[in-house]
Amino acid sequence: MNIPFYHSQIARSPLAAGMDAAIYGLIRQSMKTPGFFMNQAKHIYHSAKSHRNPVNFLGHLFPEYSPEQREYFFIEGLKVSRTLERFDRGGAASDFDGALIYAAAQLGDPDVIIETGTGMGGTTYAALQGCEARAYTFDREEGVADLDGVPYARWRELPMQGVGRLIPEEMEERVVFVLGDIKRTLPCWVADRKPMKSLVILDSLHTPEHQAYEIKTLKPILAPGSVVLCDDTTSAWSEWAGFLNCGLMGGIRT
Ligand SMILES: C[S@@+](CC[C@H](N)C(=O)[O-])C[C@H]1O[C@@H](n2cnc3c(N)ncnc32)[C@H](O)[C@@H]1O
Repeated sequence: MNIPFYHSQIARSPLAAGMDAAIYGLIRQSMKTPGFFMNQAKHIYHSAKSHRNPVNFLGHLFPEYSPEQREYFFIEGLKVSRTLERFDRGGAASDFDGALIYAAAQLGDPDVIIETGTGMGGTTYAALQGCEARAYTFDREEGVADLDGVPYARWRELPMQGVGRLIPEEMEERVVFVLGDIKRTLPCWVADRKPMKSLVILDSLHTPEHQAYEIKTLKPILAPGSVVLCDDTTSAWSEWAGFLNCGLMGGIRT
């Protein structure tokens, strides 16, 4: 169902997007798992309380850069994200999240981008614009409903189905799409790889169990200096990283 004001807010505002996923996930999962509601409500409270502004948030990740440099790349990232075509549905990250990702790519200069949850490709686009690295981005082959319900229901509603439709053709040579259930594809992809300086973007299923699984699976191949950004953070993220959040985007440098 298209609710114009609601969906346009999700595209534009980090708070609306974060709250949408967090609150919807909260209600859905609370119905299934007793005790989940209190855990997640506590987490949202802590995230909101420990929210840092973008320049400070980037400062924790990249203390070697001045506040002016961090602000410069964040504002440039906003401009880059705002050039993206916006669909009223599809769950693409907000401009604000895109700007943080772009700035992290510029400041971190990673050897590789690893992303879970390609979706429309909004976050992939921001990362690719910010650095020269190749992106490996993971999603399903088809829309399937899962625990949180939100992204996958929207996936089926996309105006044109398919992952990564916001990634322009000229960037596709730098992108490897790994399609299939991440539970299956991610461990295979990680196996036998050497640690790399990575920019990791976690934006697939927003449940604590799934985020914990992705972090644990990727950890062995993250070389020192890698940065992990986690969208719509959950209690699993917070336990691993501490509460370092900008909106509901978590970030940590290894
Ligand atoms: C919030 S959307 C990603 C939005 C995207 N980063 C963007 O900015 O356009 C989450 C995506 O994760 C994918 N996903 C969730 N769980 C998955 C799994 N177990 N395996 C593969 N993909 C998964 C969904 O299909 C969905 O496209």
